Amino acid sequence: MAPLGDVIALDRAACDLTQPDQLRRTVREYRPAIIVNAAAFTAVDKAETEPELAFAINGVAPGILAEEAYALGSLLVHYSTDYVFDGIAQGAYVETDAVNPQSVYGRSKLAGEHAVAEAGAQALVLRTCWVAGAHGGNFAKTMLRLASERESLKVIADQFGAPTTASLIADVTAQIVARHWLTGSHEAFPSGVYHLAAAGDTSWHGYAVEVLRYARELGVELKANPEKVEAISATAYPLPAPRPANSRLDTTRLREIFGIHLPPWEQGIHHLLDLILQ
Ligand SMILES: NC(=O)c1ccc[n+]([C@@H]2O[C@H](COP(=O)([O-])OP(=O)(O)OC[C@H]3O[C@@H](n4cnc5c(N)ncnc54)[C@H](OP(=O)(O)O)[C@@H]3O)[C@@H](O)[C@H]2O)c1
Repeated sequence: MAPLGDVIALDRAACDLTQPDQLRRTVREYRPAIIVNAAAFTAVDKAETEPELAFAINGVAPGILAEEAYALGSLLVHYSTDYVFDGIAQGAYVETDAVNPQSVYGRSKLAGEHAVAEAGAQALVLRTCWVAGAHGGNFAKTMLRLASERESLKVIADQFGAPTTASLIADVTAQIVARHWLTGSHEAFPSGVYHLAAAGDTSWHGYAVEVLRYARELGVELKANPEKVEAISATAYPLPAPRPANSRLDTTRLREIFGIHLPPWEQGIHHLLDLILQ
């Protein structure tokens, strides 16, 4: 029994997002009060050559989950991305800013947002960016590995966002669910799209420098120290899918509607490094 009730975690075998019938059957079998969909086709470059699969998982499946949530009177929590924007704007994006995805991944995730909205269920769609968690691969782990193998690193310095930990996203989700869904009126739940990212912003270069600086503070020996991280332009590192140059997400709406105050990105990344390195 978890603080918010029983949690049933289903993997790909039990709940394959490419299998709409199985997905509907599974939801009807468990009849969850809250459906949390953290699964997605996240291989951004691979999506360029596998658009059907990306759209099935990111575009269609969230709509099916939302339809089932609607039928059950349940809440759907779904995660989306800064890639719905083109990244050309100067400041932080608000939820009502015009979307203009530049990649198959971004378009498929936007299709998922639309499918959720059309189903009419009570839904919390949290757009986030630059996610790192203790489990699995992430940018911080890659920088630590490269800095232990090489004398110097080259890292993109003209793309900006806020490194956001998976644990922060989980905490915020749990807080909203506990305070506004489990204890509030379901009819009054403020469904919609919300931006969720740690406070502040940096470039990938700034992020890498802070990872190595903090690792060194923890006593980790590295071949490449922070001052050996060279700033490069994204144009020097072409990839199949374009990345937004500006991934800054304005989180005012999350604060005003749900009273959530987000910590600076450095705090989450330090905590993550404590977990990874100690
Ligand atoms: N990472 C980021 O920087 C970032 C930024 C913005 C938004 N997001 C969003 O945050 C959410 C989580 O992203 P993440 O980076 O944590 O993803 P991730 O680590 O790549 O994990 C994706 C999960 O989806 C599962 N999955 C993929 N295809 C599936 C299918 N057909 N049926 C069932 N499960 C399937 C994968 O299962 P297997 O383990 O079996 O492959 C994996 O567990 C996504 O909605 C993503 O769009 C992420």
